[in-house]
Amino acid sequence: MAQNQRTQVLLHPDFRVGEIDRRLFGSFVEHLGRAVYTGIYEPGHTTADEHGFRSDVAELTHELGVSMVRYPGGNFVSNYTWEDGVGPRADRKPFIDLAWRTIEPNEVGTDEFLQWAEREGIEPMMAVNLGTRGVAAAVALVEYCNGEAGSKWADMRIANGREEPYAVRLWCLGNEMDGPWQIGHKDAHEYGKLAAEAGKAMKLVDPSIELVACGSSSMQMDTFGEWEQTVLSYTYDIVDHISMHAYYEEVGGDRASFLASGTAMDRFIRRVVASVDAVGARKRSDKEITISFDEWNVWYLETRFVGEKKLPLQRDAPRIIEDVYSGLDAVVVGDLLVTLLNHADRVPVACLAQLVNVIAPIMTEPGGGSWRQPTFYPFATTARLAQGTTLDLRVTAPTTTTAKHGAVPVVTAAATWDGAALSADGSSGTGAGALALFLVNRSSEPVDVEIAHPGLAIALTGGLEVVADHQTAVEGPEHAAKVAAACIRELGTPQVVQDGPGRTVLTLAPESWTAFEGTATRA
Ligand code: AHR
Repeated sequence: MAQNQRTQVLLHPDFRVGEIDRRLFGSFVEHLGRAVYTGIYEPGHTTADEHGFRSDVAELTHELGVSMVRYPGGNFVSNYTWEDGVGPRADRKPFIDLAWRTIEPNEVGTDEFLQWAEREGIEPMMAVNLGTRGVAAAVALVEYCNGEAGSKWADMRIANGREEPYAVRLWCLGNEMDGPWQIGHKDAHEYGKLAAEAGKAMKLVDPSIELVACGSSSMQMDTFGEWEQTVLSYTYDIVDHISMHAYYEEVGGDRASFLASGTAMDRFIRRVVASVDAVGARKRSDKEITISFDEWNVWYLETRFVGEKKLPLQRDAPRIIEDVYSGLDAVVVGDLLVTLLNHADRVPVACLAQLVNVIAPIMTEPGGGSWRQPTFYPFATTARLAQGTTLDLRVTAPTTTTAKHGAVPVVTAAATWDGAALSADGSSGTGAGALALFLVNRSSEPVDVEIAHPGLAIALTGGLEVVADHQTAVEGPEHAAKVAAACIRELGTPQVVQDGPGRTVLTLAPESWTAFEGTATRA
């Protein structure tokens, strides 16, 4: 392990990965368990607004810094008839959601969600059902959401009380269609043809929309790689993004592999980019398809989840996959964010799955309080501090060998700077701006990081440190508060050694994620 070995980071203001799209800090609300009902929505709750949405959850969502929310699924969307969830509530009928074996009351649907997102200043990301449905239903939904008065579905929206189009920009063409668990699962040719036709027609309704084709549900799928290439062979000219989904967990006490999840995510992104670009090259296309990493998180899928097929048929917002997180999970979430920032050039969209109660940073009790899980803190801090451009760091770090991922670096890092905007002649930045450094130490020893920053004067003023713990997950706000007290520390002015011009040395705690906040000015 790394003990006392110095890690070196070269940070230069002219080396840049790319501008950070604010949609990188998206999240996800699916009709699953208590994400909607008793999550964002609970009429009668003491904090509920006039529309029945919990304002305590909305406040935490703002504090989390979520820019965008994906809806309505997830696996749920693949057997969803969106028309059943609009119009007068008294006329809406419950149905059996086959994805999570739950009676969906259809009390919250497209209008309620989109109006909530609008009131909260959050960009919506919608998904269409390409499992049990197809082109016509997808086209109708785009028209319902974005159409001007004077056509059937837009007029239905107006009759339902919403005059202005919602102008939903981002649309998923189905969800995880490569997965055999998906209702209406398809092979890559079937899905590619359907997605191309649906996407073509949806853009004829509203040419300004952006489309996401389904990529693989994970890198472990047997069809991974082949799936992306086949799907894009049909959809390359129509879609704008391809999706990635990945969940990480500690299995069998293999802490080192779990702590290296950021490297696994990095490799996954590089492989998808390679597959996507290979299709572009074959097509001799100048178009660049980017990535919508629209589901990512820590999820104890293998170790705690019983599997959707074993779920009894339930009603009234059952507790499904309400994972309880530790400081260790928070360190990993921070590291995954480091990876996403470092791919800002190819990953403009990402969604922490999910927002509330279901594998979520925010938890609620029906009729009771709401609280932050440990994973809330690295997300909120990154969303707040990561402004402007990701700088292209050169990190020289010792490696450690993990059972699952082989050799991985012991330290990972990302830096963002909002003084990096190019001047009109394209030669230099504005010269000064907010700087954030995100550093992860995966080893069980403290590590010194020596940062060389020629041409930049850096002043660090504070930040946040998250350290891993060894706690067993226990449910409830008291547990979350205990973990936060033990693992999460606001930094004052950090213990920085500025040993020479353009050189800063920082010490990272064992198994930690740290965000340093400050300013950087061209020297
Ligand atoms: O986020 C939970 C589930 O994980 C989603 O419904 C599905 O898309 C994925 O498998």
